[in-house]
Parts: sequence; structure tokens; C-alpha cells
Amino acid sequence: MSNAAASPIESPFLAACRGEQPSRTPVWFMRQAGRSLPEYKTARGTTTMLEACRTPELVCEITMQPVRRYGVDAAIFFSDIVVPLAAVGVDVEIVPGTGPVVAEPFRTEDDLKRLRNLDPCDVGYITEAIGLLVKELGDTPLIGFAGAPFTLASYLIEGGPSRDHAKTKALMHSAPELWHGIASRLAAICGEFLRVQVEAGARAVQLFDSWAGALSEADYRRFALPHSTAALAGVAQSVPRIHFGVGTAHLLEAMAETGAEISGVDFRIPLEQAAERLPDKVLQGNLDPALILADDAALLAATDAVLESGRGAKGHIFNLGHGVLPDSDPEKLKLVVDRVHEVSAR
Ligand code: CP3
Repeated sequence: MSNAAASPIESPFLAACRGEQPSRTPVWFMRQAGRSLPEYKTARGTTTMLEACRTPELVCEITMQPVRRYGVDAAIFFSDIVVPLAAVGVDVEIVPGTGPVVAEPFRTEDDLKRLRNLDPCDVGYITEAIGLLVKELGDTPLIGFAGAPFTLASYLIEGGPSRDHAKTKALMHSAPELWHGIASRLAAICGEFLRVQVEAGARAVQLFDSWAGALSEADYRRFALPHSTAALAGVAQSVPRIHFGVGTAHLLEAMAETGAEISGVDFRIPLEQAAERLPDKVLQGNLDPALILADDAALLAATDAVLESGRGAKGHIFNLGHGVLPDSDPEKLKLVVDRVHEVSAR
């Protein structure tokens, strides 16, 4: 590539991803781009979420906002896990305050026909947006992402967000062939979506299996693990791969078997415990997002505790244990970034 001068290869984030000793502990936040920023609301105006995701200049601006404001060590691409589903023709909307809603939920073999392969031409706006971003970002690496097959399938089968994922679990067990048909097609779509982002210039990827924690380990291994592994295989050997789920303490080892180099850890389990169980993985996490709403003293103490807890890991990327809550004060996130950089400088 021709942008060697601006190459982010020496970034603390990429060094940590590779398990090397970075100059400081890198920090970024899941959902750093979005609703907690006033400049995000201004930029979005009345544009719907999916329309915004298809508008390269807007995607570039929104992705850059937290980088400018916080000085985080990585940018997360502004998009959504359902963008590739919409791109292959699934009728899905992102309803404010609710999340993805699918017009006709998936229930039968016939529904498989609605999941064709993703062609890079379907998401030309992604390639274009990342092209703009690579120029703007300079030394700061861009993280591309996708939703994991289980989490995406849950939206398709339930028709929207679900607390118990009951229809999804019922379908897995009563129609395992149909389940594996849906999940393997989703794995192909996710894998291609990740590849497109990496080809365009993303320097790492994160696979979000946000709702995998709803599965027992046995069900995770049988119904989700093979498909997440397939999705991540598409970008193996090209960029570091982060794998994250919520409430997945019982699945840490199983999720690590997907081959991702970095394990995301939610706030429910201390990093030192995760490090003992996953000595070969770099860990990402895991400040409770609710603590951003606590007073400064409590927030800084919790930040220091997470840094301390991450010391035993092969490598540590500081993050929240899940996404930034919408009513977080941006000043508090800035406080955390500065503290992480200050305390961890080597
Ligand atoms: O800063 C970032 O993390 C960048 C972009 C990003 C978004 N969604 C933007 C978004 C990322 C990485 C996602 C991933 C995503 N989307 C996940 C996995 C991560 C997680 O939080 O567990 C999931 C489950 C989704 C599905 C989804 N999309 C939900 C649950 C919601 C929230 C609905 C709501 O309004 O409460 C969305 C919408 C969404 N995705 C918003 C943003 C900024 C808010 C929409 C808006 O601003 O109108």
C-alpha cells in the first residue's frame, strides 16, 4: 500500500493485539461513536440509521468524532451488524430505542432463499467510507466489525430484540439442519463483510456475538462455535481478530476456540481470572459502562483496578465491558482515556 508514511503499524493498539509490549495500554470504547456525543446527534439529524450507514461522508465524520474528542487508540467503524443483511435484501430496520426489527422473521426452509451471498458490490459504500477514513485517521488504526452468526440469527428468527431467545433456541433443537443452514449462510455473509472492510483498510476486526451468553456451553459448541469460526477464518492471517460477547464468562474457553487472537471480556468477570483461563490470549475490557456515570473518584479507582487486573494477561486493550451507555458524559470518557494513558505509560 502507498500510505507507508501514515502507516498505523507501530500503534499501541496493534502492538497490544500482537501480544507485544506497547508504549502504553491502548484504549477504545465499544459504541464510542454514537448517541452519547452531541456532535453525533447533530451530524445524524433526521437521517435514519441505515441511511447513515450507507453515506460514506457521514460514516467518516461519525467514526472520527470520538477519535478527535478522546484521543482513543483505535477507531471503530460506524455501521451496524445488520448492514450486510440489509445489503443482501433482508427487510430489516433499526428502530430507535428498540434495535433491529425484521419484517418477516425466519421460520422455515423457504426462508433460506432470502440469505444469498454478499457480493462486495452490494456494499460499495463501505469500501468508499473506509477509503475516506484511512486518509483521515493517519496513525490511528480502524477496527472493522461484524455480528456473529448466532447474534444475527437471533434477530432474524425472533424478528427483533429478545430477552430469552426462545424461538431461536427452539428452532436450533427442533430443526438443527435449518439452523445450520441459516447460520452457515450468515457465516459466509459475515466473513465477506469482514474481508471487504480489511481489503479497504481496516487494521483489525471485532466479531460481536453479543447474545451468545444466552447459550449453555454445550449449545454454544454445537450451534454457534463452528459458524463463528468460519466467519473469522475469512480474515485469519491478515489482521488481528477480537471476539466479544456479553455474559459469556462460562464460554470464555469455547469462544477462544474460534481462533480469535484477542478475547473481549465483559465486566462480570475480573480480567485476572480471564487471564488465568486464557493464558495465550490478549484480553480486551472490561470497565463496567455504568461506572462512567459514577463520580470521578469512583471512576478513576475503577479504571486503575481494571488496569491492574489486566497486568497478568498476555496483553491488555482497555475497553468497557460492553458499549457506552447513551447518557454517558463525554467528559468522563475523556477522563478514562487520559488516566489509562497516564498510568500505563512505559
Ligand atoms: O461506536 C460503535 O460501536 C460503532 C458502531 C456500532 C453500532 N452498532 C452503531 C449503532 C457497532 C459496533 C454496533 C454493533 C451492534 N449493533 C451490536 C453489537 C454490539 C453490542 O452493543 O452488543 C448489536 C447487538 C447491534 C444491534 C443494534 N443496533 C442495537 C441493539 C441498537 C440500539 C437500538 C437503540 O436505539 O437502543 C442498534 C442501533 C445503533 N447501532 C445505534 C448506533 C450508534 C443507535 C441508533 C441511533 O443513533 O439512532
